Amino acid sequence: MTNRDGSATSMLVFLNGKYLPVEQAQVSVLDRGFIFGDGIYEVIPVYNGKLLRLDQHLDRLKKNLDAIRLNLSMSAGQWEEILNELVQCNGYADKNAGVYLQVTRGAAPREHSLPDDSKPTVFAMCNPAVAVAPELSEQGVATITLEDYRWKNCHIKSISLLPNVLLRQQAVDSGAVESILIRDDCATEGSASNLFIVQHGLLITPPKGPFLLPGITRDLILELASENNIVYKEQVIKEFELRGADEIWLSSSLKDILPVTSLDGKKISNGTPGPLWRTMNDLLQDFKSRL
Ligand code: PDD
Repeated sequence: MTNRDGSATSMLVFLNGKYLPVEQAQVSVLDRGFIFGDGIYEVIPVYNGKLLRLDQHLDRLKKNLDAIRLNLSMSAGQWEEILNELVQCNGYADKNAGVYLQVTRGAAPREHSLPDDSKPTVFAMCNPAVAVAPELSEQGVATITLEDYRWKNCHIKSISLLPNVLLRQQAVDSGAVESILIRDDCATEGSASNLFIVQHGLLITPPKGPFLLPGITRDLILELASENNIVYKEQVIKEFELRGADEIWLSSSLKDILPVTSLDGKKISNGTPGPLWRTMNDLLQDFKSRL
C-alpha cells in the first residue's frame, strides 16, 4: 500500500476499540497474553473482500472464550462490523487476505490464578493472502511424522503455540512443509492444519475431540463431500493407515487443501497429488468463487 506521494502507508490494525497504524498499536508488558500466553485467536480467510465462514469462526471464538473462562461482551454483529472495516480500510475490499484476531485476558499483576478485574485485550489485523505456490498443488508437499507432545486441550485455539512452532520448525529443518503428529499410534493433525486420508476411495479424517483443532476448513470439506456424494468417515487414523494411505491432505484457512506426496521421505502412492484431492480442491475453489 502506498500514499499519494508514493511512500508506503502502514497497515491499520484494530486494538481495543481503535483502528491504528501498526507502529502505534501498543499493549502493556503485563498483558497476560505476553506473560502467560493467556489468550485465544482466530484466523479467517478473506476472498474477494468477503470473510469466509465468519459465523463459524465467531462461533468457535465464543466456545474458546468460554473454555478459557474469559468474559468478553462483544456480539457477533460487533465483530462483523470491526473485521469488515479492517478489511476495507486496509484496501482488501476486493482482494484475498487473512484476518488474524486475538483476545487475551489483559494486563494484571503477574499471578497464575485468574484476575478478578482485568480488561481483555482485543486485537485484529488483516494481512495479504499468501498464495499457495502453483508447484505445491502440482507436486504436493513433503511431510514428516513427529510425536504429538502437545497438551490434551488441542481443541482450544490457544495463543500458546510454542509446541506447534517447534513441531513446524522440525519439519522445515528436514526440508518438509508440515509435520503430521502422532499420539498413541494415531495421527491427529498437522502442526497448523487438519488431516485427511483417502483409503480405497473412502475419505477419512479423525473425529473432533481434545486432540485436534476443529478446523473450519475441515468442516467445509466434509460439507462439500456430503453435497457431492463423496463418502467420508470421521474415524481414528492409525499410524499404519496413514503410512499406507492412497492420498493424504492437510487443510487450513490460509492454505486450503494441500496434497501430501511424501511422508518421512517415502512417496504417497505414485508421489503426485491424488484424484480425490483434485476433485475436492476444485469443489472448494468453486465454492469460494461463488461467494
Ligand atoms: N491454523 N489444526 C491446527 C493446529 C491449526 O493451527 C489450524 C489452523 C488448523 C486448521 O483450522 P482452520 O481450518 O480453522 O484454519 C488445524 C491457523 C491457520 C494458524 O494458526 O495460522
